[in-house]
Amino acid sequence: MVSEREIEHAVVVLRAGGLVAFPTETVYGLGADASNPDAIRKLFAAKGRPHDHPLIVHVADAVQVANWAREIPEAAHALARRFWPGPLTVILRRAATVSDLVTGGQDTIALRVPSHPVAQSLLRKFGGGVAAPSANRFGRVSATTAEHVRSEFGAEVGCVLDGGAADVGIESTIVDLSGARPALLRPGAIMVLQLEAALGSPVASPAASSPRAPGTLARHYAPRTPLMVMEADLLLELAASLVRQGKRVAVLARSASRPLLSGLQWVAAPPDAAAYAHDLYANLRTLDAAGCDTILAEAPPLAPEWAAIRDRLTRAAAGAPPAETT
Ligand code: TXA
Ligand code: MG
Repeated sequence: MVSEREIEHAVVVLRAGGLVAFPTETVYGLGADASNPDAIRKLFAAKGRPHDHPLIVHVADAVQVANWAREIPEAAHALARRFWPGPLTVILRRAATVSDLVTGGQDTIALRVPSHPVAQSLLRKFGGGVAAPSANRFGRVSATTAEHVRSEFGAEVGCVLDGGAADVGIESTIVDLSGARPALLRPGAIMVLQLEAALGSPVASPAASSPRAPGTLARHYAPRTPLMVMEADLLLELAASLVRQGKRVAVLARSASRPLLSGLQWVAAPPDAAAYAHDLYANLRTLDAAGCDTILAEAPPLAPEWAAIRDRLTRAAAGAPPAETT
């Protein structure tokens, strides 16, 4: 895994204003010293990310939240006690000292205490906050292995801590606690029901109450190959029709069994939500690399534990042109 010496080297790189890719339990992060504006600029440049997209600041423990937020409501304490260290990010009102570069000029800041032992060790040794977006180029599929990170950034990111495949596989749940009521901003492995149980109050869920048309969603978490999400029966029909037209079709299946069709690139994803999430981005990278005309993904079930997966697949599909079926 990762040696003490590698962690110490990574801390030196961070202190010098450099970039360090590191594993978290969700996905790999591309980290920079959150209190060093030059380092943050370097981070935005490497990701190709617009400057108004704010970053998550990672800290070793909940005590450090006070360095970054000016108000810590009881709800934040309750969620920290229950879910930190772990795959949860909270949005709080920011402290006056926080750079506009980190928050995208907003009055709020995103904070997370990751549980991955390498992330923990890095944050403890570094001592401060590490701003880290997912270690992928802007709009692309997140990296869940060190190998993914290297293939995204090559020599541009010299320091990559290899902590193996990320456990959870999709990005943290984000809850906004800066307003009058807690609101879900991004679904993740920690579900709304669990947040509500810890808070003893409802969590507003804009994604569920006002579904946005797929075309209006920002295309995010996207492979280069156009992707469509549909039920198994339709998927099998469409795959057969496209193959007959000489198209190369990649399939991310869940329950469907592989039909006897030549020229299909087929990945059978695990049947349970946690294992499906763990493999999701690696599977999308594999299917994307196959150089097909289309990726067809079988729709996930409607149960709550699949909500984050549905969200990521919907975003991956947004903006993709429809496959030609005529
Ligand atoms: O699991 C994760 O959260 C991973 C690992 C590396 O920790 N990080 C991650 O970062 O997914 P990123 O930058 O890819 O996504 C952060 C999300 C963005 O959608 C951003 O808009 C939102 O957090 N965000 C950050 N600060 C915010 C703020 N002050 N208010 C609202 N949203 C914010
Ligand atoms: Mg990201």
